Amino acid sequence: MKVDGRAMRTLWPAPARDALFVIDQRALPHRLQVERLGDIAAVHRAIADMWVRGAPLIGATAAYGLALQMNRACDDTALEQAAAWLQQARPTAVNLAWAVQRLLAVLRPLAPAARRDAAWTEADAIAEHDVQVNTAIGRHGLALLQAVAARKAGPVNVLTHCNAGWLATVDRGTATAPIYAAHAAGVPLHVWVDETRPRNQGASLTAWELAHEGVPHTVIADNAGGHLMQHGEVDLVIVGCDRVSARGDVCNKIGTYLKALAAHDNALPFYVAMPTSTLDLSLHDGLAQIPIEYRSAREVTHLSGRAADGTVVEVQLVPDGTAAANPAFDVTPARLVTGLITEHGLVAADEAALRRLGDGPPRHERTRSACRLDRGAATAGRAGTESRQHRQPQPPAR
Ligand code: MRU
Repeated sequence: MKVDGRAMRTLWPAPARDALFVIDQRALPHRLQVERLGDIAAVHRAIADMWVRGAPLIGATAAYGLALQMNRACDDTALEQAAAWLQQARPTAVNLAWAVQRLLAVLRPLAPAARRDAAWTEADAIAEHDVQVNTAIGRHGLALLQAVAARKAGPVNVLTHCNAGWLATVDRGTATAPIYAAHAAGVPLHVWVDETRPRNQGASLTAWELAHEGVPHTVIADNAGGHLMQHGEVDLVIVGCDRVSARGDVCNKIGTYLKALAAHDNALPFYVAMPTSTLDLSLHDGLAQIPIEYRSAREVTHLSGRAADGTVVEVQLVPDGTAAANPAFDVTPARLVTGLITEHGLVAADEAALRRLGDGPPRHERTRSACRLDRGAATAGRAGTESRQHRQPQPPAR
């Protein structure tokens, strides 16, 4: 993506392979702040506290986190402990486990002395793979947007939720890849950007990157989408995903399900951009089995933004002591999904089609009980207090 006219990725390793540079997305849209992460603890913090976020970017960042740990200790114990710790930094996006498992598959058979170089090479390959995958998703999604454009006068109106854009990946984004491809191909477009409470990834991040790419867009309150659909202002919905079950249930940012319901009621296509690294063939029933992250109540009770004097301030929205719950993701049943835009083309949200894709992530531990535990912890949050959102396993020994 271009930032102020300059091509940039969302993460890049230091040439000496002793650090990873990332954008601290908490500072956007007000400031583009690059941070140097020098060890696995810094990487874990950046993922858990959402300096970096978005399923594919979390995966690529974690891969470099494991590579950083291999600079320090690369015996079997250090490797397994680091992998387990990183994998739990955020529970919902399966790309995290996918990337860590991909590194483990390469590193486990190697002698410890060979692991450092191999880890950095594999992390680089994961980052490059992400860019190739998103480029292909863009190509396949472009055809869908061109087909809509051919049927109507005026711009194609796309509605998107959260940020499944450049900032959520290494480059291009998933849901935004078709939009960027269509914009580059001269397809007239306009994007409705859901603000995406509580963290406002739409208003803060998607709007920021669409502006840098020159794509016409309008930020809307999350509740406005249904109304716009009823009045013919939306042609199709494209969202990203954090985990898709074998039968095609789609887990994505909280509020996605409501957009799918509204699209269904208005007979509008609801597409999900899905790299196959987000497909979890080990789970069948997405509603029952995908672990939903519950985050701090403070994300609901407070908002931050730029004040008139230019300083970024946080304000409280609710009466002192108000309880708040913050489920960060929801699951859209497969029956509401028109199709999955993958790097291999458009795929139906059904088990036979998804198993045929054959490139899903490795099986891994699922954490339904942790999901219940998280919910208990988060509902205890009250305005004016801070609560931890999920269990923190032990960091690896240095
Ligand atoms: O909590 P976040 O900001 O990490 O959630 C991000 C999303 O839900 C995205 O839509 C999803 O990860 C797809 S990113 C290509």
